[in-house]
Amino acid sequence: MRAAIITSSDSGYAGKREDLSGPAIEEMLREAGYEVVSRTILPDDQEKLEAELISICDEGRADLILTTGGTGFSPRDVMPEATAAVAERMVPGIPEAMRAYSMQYTKRTMLSRAASGIRRQTLIVNLPGSPKAVRECLEYILPELEHGLQILLGEAGECARQ
Ligand code: MTE
Repeated sequence: MRAAIITSSDSGYAGKREDLSGPAIEEMLREAGYEVVSRTILPDDQEKLEAELISICDEGRADLILTTGGTGFSPRDVMPEATAAVAERMVPGIPEAMRAYSMQYTKRTMLSRAASGIRRQTLIVNLPGSPKAVRECLEYILPELEHGLQILLGEAGECARQ
């Protein structure tokens, strides 16, 4: 499976803060056997985020896009809006599961507005901004994403019972 990573961060884009979350995602994806095709830092700008999501999906560059940052309450946090704007189908269960699982770490996970959706044959999943939160969320959802991606790509016909 091929994956792309997008960090939404004004300070990261301006070079004022080191992006630690993008590399944390990359490490976990590689350990899980994904080919990481790109890792991009963009400002918290909905138009730019949408354009990058659309180009990855419509050019078929990745099966999975993981984003980090921009899911909170700051007026500049627009990653869920960009995701919903480009998605053809929403996948609410993935962020619901992340938030439910993350409650054991911090109740502030209820403040995450993360979204997930499908455009063409690419699944987009928003993760929170901190490297700690990224690891906590990915350890839970990553093992299940592969089955969804196989169905999306037509490589798996039906859900095998666990
Ligand atoms: N999820 C996990 N697993 N661990 C965390 O530490 N932090 C939260 C949350 N989700 C957190 C988490 C906090 S403090 C906020 S404000 C929201 O996600 C939004 O995160 P973001 O603004 O970094 O995108």
